[in-house]
Amino acid sequence: MQTDINLIHQDCVLGMRDMPAASVDLVVTSPPYNLGIDYRKYKDQVDRKAFIQWCLEWAIELKRVLAEDGSFFLNVGAVPKNPLLPHQLLLALTEAAQDGEESAPHFILQNTFHWVKSISIETTEGQAVSAGHFKPINSPRYVNDCHEYVFHLTKTGNVPLERRAAGVPYAHKSNIKRWGHNGGEDKRCRGNTWFIPYDTIHSRNKERPHPATFPVKLVEQCIRIHGKSQQTRLLDPFNGIGTSAIAAKRMGISSYTGFDIDEHYLEVAKERIHQLVDSPEQPT
Ligand SMILES: C[S@@+](CC[C@H](N)C(=O)[O-])C[C@H]1O[C@@H](n2cnc3c(N)ncnc32)[C@H](O)[C@@H]1O
Repeated sequence: MQTDINLIHQDCVLGMRDMPAASVDLVVTSPPYNLGIDYRKYKDQVDRKAFIQWCLEWAIELKRVLAEDGSFFLNVGAVPKNPLLPHQLLLALTEAAQDGEESAPHFILQNTFHWVKSISIETTEGQAVSAGHFKPINSPRYVNDCHEYVFHLTKTGNVPLERRAAGVPYAHKSNIKRWGHNGGEDKRCRGNTWFIPYDTIHSRNKERPHPATFPVKLVEQCIRIHGKSQQTRLLDPFNGIGTSAIAAKRMGISSYTGFDIDEHYLEVAKERIHQLVDSPEQPT
């Protein structure tokens, strides 16, 4: 299916206000985290209260445009000096309206995923194996930070998922027969730890000209697990350089809408999508 892609140069709060209610099935997004990241236009360091208040503003619009059985996958990271931010944001998004507040998004947290960017394991043969990329932290008190959260928020807490669409083969094949819920297929639910490394790049400016992107595969996993297949209408209110758009196109879903206040990032997004049409197998 040809994906209908709309990249819109506008503040997402205003942009979503123009969208009809319940007009998207899925939101996958990574808003600015208020951690002082050097975006070109957006100032990523404001008073914490003002930041949470702004998040509530866009989340209220987001909830309105999301279908009743829709899923909202919210990617948020932290820095060691500011470890509570993802949790404070999550609490604000899931709380009912307080006295004096007109409304609140009041989402239900249905699942919590850990996007693991890098991992080191010891094999059963005792060999240490490391995979993925991370930014080393040089500190006597903090360890390297190798993961981010992806909170799965819904309106009811009761949205059925295609758990095995993003599944993995059983390690022990005897479990295929043992567990009835797999329908006899060699695939089990992957669980909530997702190892999705960034692609190795040689020139940041050329290959990833944005300070805070997520990988295409992260969005693809969300599209699969939400399970509305080709009919899915995806929204990313914080488009950046269009990673969600690329996932939408690669998976051939129905439509994608993305907003960004920075025209330059939207231009890069267009170019990335164009390159994908020419060469769908290239690394993203
Ligand atoms: C964390 S980045 C998203 C990156 C994206 N996930 C990607 O992989 O390219 C957040 C983006 O939000 C944009 N932004 C900030 N405020 C915005 C607003 N009010 N409306 C729309 N976009 C906004 C910034 O310009 C930035 O590109």
